[in-house]
Amino acid sequence: MSATTAPVGVFDSGLGGLTVLQSLRSLLPGEDFIYFADQAFCPYGGRPEAEIRDRAFAVTDALRAEGAKLVVVACNTATIAAVAALRAAVDIPFVGMEPAVKPASALTRSGVVGVLATQGSLAGDKFQHLVATHAQGVKVLTQPCRGWVELVEAGDLDGPVVRQQVRAAVQPLIDAGCDVLVLGCTHFPLLRPVIADCVGPAVTLLETGPAVARQTLRVLEQTGLRNPRGDGGSIRWRGTGDDVAFRAMRLRLGFDAQGETAPLSR
Ligand code: DGL
Repeated sequence: MSATTAPVGVFDSGLGGLTVLQSLRSLLPGEDFIYFADQAFCPYGGRPEAEIRDRAFAVTDALRAEGAKLVVVACNTATIAAVAALRAAVDIPFVGMEPAVKPASALTRSGVVGVLATQGSLAGDKFQHLVATHAQGVKVLTQPCRGWVELVEAGDLDGPVVRQQVRAAVQPLIDAGCDVLVLGCTHFPLLRPVIADCVGPAVTLLETGPAVARQTLRVLEQTGLRNPRGDGGSIRWRGTGDDVAFRAMRLRLGFDAQGETAPLSR
């Protein structure tokens, strides 16, 4: 396999990164992908940074063992905890993602933006640095959406319990004047219809998947790694967790659910 025809690795703690994979597939239909769901360790959000870093290295090793030419860290929490260390230690390009504080700050008219993310993404210096750099003059309110990742992993994307949980988290942000909400975790776009219902049409919801796909295209071109094939790319499914839930969500999102998930030893 030449470098250009090697696959692109994509990983998340679980099913959230599938929202990024959707954007990647539509922008890069000729690339082969390996999607790795680290469900045995999901959620990452409440874990110590060192542990998330260990998982990011273990998953990257598994993706590289299958020939990944570039890795997309389709998880805000893992990017914040690990992408700098991965770049320093591993000799392939990485594309990471972080909550869209910068575009939200450019877009707000009320001057108040809300960031929905995991506890792990919001705690710590890196998020503070993001706000200090890109949100000058804008009030940034944060909400660690406890339990949302678990809902998505269980396939609960709607219903009274989900609505109640979502409303309880977003209402204080709306009451405080937010007119832009950042979906700062890749699981959250899967709850987008419920979130949109709860906040109403006057509030803009921002997600990062499409921007990550555009950045991946740029990096593939800059490094000469883009697959010359224009169409017909495949996806290999990998992970450490529950193949039944994984398959069910793939089907629900319109991905081909063929192919066995190969577990990585824990
Ligand atoms: N989907 C992940 C993110 O974007 C993290 C979810 C988790 O495992 O806590 O942050």
